[in-house]
Amino acid sequence: MRSCAALLPACRRRAETGTMVRPIFLRRATAADQSQIMALIRTVGINPMGIQWSRFIVADESGRIVGSGQIKPHSDGSREVASIAVAPECQGMGIGSAIVATLVAMEPAPLYLYCADYNEGYYRQFGFRALAPADMPPSLRRIHAIAHALSHVLTTVSGQTHRLVVMGRGQDQA
Ligand SMILES: CC(C)(COP(=O)(O)OP(=O)(O)OC[C@H]1O[C@@H](n2cnc3c(N)ncnc32)[C@H](O)[C@@H]1OP(=O)(O)O)[C@@H](O)C(=O)NCCC(=O)NCCS
Repeated sequence: MRSCAALLPACRRRAETGTMVRPIFLRRATAADQSQIMALIRTVGINPMGIQWSRFIVADESGRIVGSGQIKPHSDGSREVASIAVAPECQGMGIGSAIVATLVAMEPAPLYLYCADYNEGYYRQFGFRALAPADMPPSLRRIHAIAHALSHVLTTVSGQTHRLVVMGRGQDQA
């Protein structure tokens, strides 16, 4: 991994303002991180399925995992940027961006992801674009179809109107 032991830029900013007590590093996850990754995923309330430490990079603050992200392979050969999570008290410091940028730099195109519609703008910064179903790989088209079907039920039950958006990056380079 290119930035395996890189001090995240956002954390340098914290140090300059005098509020920094410990640096935060990006590194590959180890087996010992599995429970902390799982806890972080549950804390931020995103999909807890397919959390396997060996596919993750993590942001580490003196042994505390404050950020995560993985590349999840699908049976059709497509690869998904997934489990992007930052501890609530560390959000807005550039950790999520450093994780996404590192995963994108590590992996060949194309890459896919899915997210709630309110996060679409976040991923556009990294070159991801919303895809029409015809442009999605079969695995993500299936997830999209299920989410679309369920969204009618959720809207009726909870009044929430969030859509799931499937995004892709670099399909033209494949
Ligand atoms: C979404 C999340 C991963 C972002 O990580 P983060 O470390 O807080 O974000 P960063 O500090 O790297 O944000 C960098 C920039 O993106 C912007 N941004 C953050 N969330 C955004 C959103 N939903 N839409 C558009 N821009 C967004 C920030 O304003 C910031 O812009 P700036 O650099 O111009 O100030 C984090 O907030 C999180 O864990 N959320 C809960 C879990 C989640 O929704 N994960 C995504 C699953 S698909």
